[in-house]
Amino acid sequence: KQTIKLGLLGFGTVGTGVVRIIQAHQEDLQKQTGLGIEITKILVQDAEKSRNIVAMEGKLTTNPADILEDPEIEVVVEVIGGIHPAKDFILGALERGKHVVTANKDLMALHGAEILKKAQEKGCDVFYEASVAGGIPILRALVEGFSSDRITKMMGIVNGTTNYILSKMSQEGAEYADVLKEAQALGYAEANPTSDVEGYDAARKMAILATLGFRVPMKLEDVDVKGISGVSKEDIAYGKQLGYEVKLLGLARRDAEAIEVSVQPTMIPKSHPLASVNGVFNAVYVHGEAVGETMFYGPGAGELPTATAVVSDLVTVVKNRKLGVNGRGMVAPYKEKILKDDSQ
Ligand code: NAP
Ligand code: HSE
Repeated sequence: KQTIKLGLLGFGTVGTGVVRIIQAHQEDLQKQTGLGIEITKILVQDAEKSRNIVAMEGKLTTNPADILEDPEIEVVVEVIGGIHPAKDFILGALERGKHVVTANKDLMALHGAEILKKAQEKGCDVFYEASVAGGIPILRALVEGFSSDRITKMMGIVNGTTNYILSKMSQEGAEYADVLKEAQALGYAEANPTSDVEGYDAARKMAILATLGFRVPMKLEDVDVKGISGVSKEDIAYGKQLGYEVKLLGLARRDAEAIEVSVQPTMIPKSHPLASVNGVFNAVYVHGEAVGETMFYGPGAGELPTATAVVSDLVTVVKNRKLGVNGRGMVAPYKEKILKDDSQ
């Protein structure tokens, strides 16, 4: 069989990027995987909406069964977002033995264990690199790159929208509401931007980072969250006078007794590298007992950076399928603990 068939759930900012990257890099993807990737159907909410990408005519559907019930579709990419109906679609796809790639941090932070359990039962892959820090391959780094180490601390900027807002308020004296609108127009913000500005999106990402980094399931309700809606231009200007930049900082650390995870606006000294992370960029420090301190930096949101993470996951699924090793991916090092805790 020369091609693998893919069903795309969602054709907004990230879905459009996924199509663009698959189209633009088709030949290279085929060289890497030995298989062509064919987008068979795309689920949308409104099939009549005008799209700025034309080559997908005839593939749009509003009926999820066209993807979930198609036995030829082996991989489902979920880029709808939110819990409902995305969760049912993903579980439905896994139930039918389809592999899943998702960018959905809401879902993975809240129901990741249930989804990974279903994937394990069905021998399917679930990858979700795009759910944290957009184009930075941080989940892969935690699960594979640091598998020999014991991570003690992760700290950083993991929400592009709020960093874009805070940077523009600091650098240009821009108004909060105006810059939020810009971030929405650029496709950085969540469908409900309250998730971004109140810190929930960052909290979900920190819960995923803590789960994978510490190899212990982290419950979202245990993350302390404060967003940036209460940060004024005056606060930022005052901080600058004292030599600080205000950033929405995620922190996850553990010692012998406890794990602590939080998200809050924080004054960062200008001399610290995180103070110079501006615009939609994210940065994550990872400290391991053996490796010491490492830092990851890159675009944290937006069409093509996010889609890069999604399509790279897709390449892994296709390579695994070729090798016959699906279902042994990202969950392996911490799977038993997650599944055990989930069933309690
Ligand atoms: P988006 O632009 O709002 O696109 C959502 C897509 O899902 C649209 O195509 C929409 O259809 C479709 N959709 C919505 N509800 C649906 C339903 N009930 N049934 C079928 N289709 C439905 O969202 P996005 O920014 O691409 O984000 C998608 C996911 O990626 C989210 O989980 C988000 O958190 C995550 N993510 C986004 C970014 C980013 O920079 N945007 C970065 C990392 C992760 P219509 O087109 O017909 O409206
Ligand atoms: N709304 C999110 C952000 C998208 O701004 O970081 C990327 O996860």
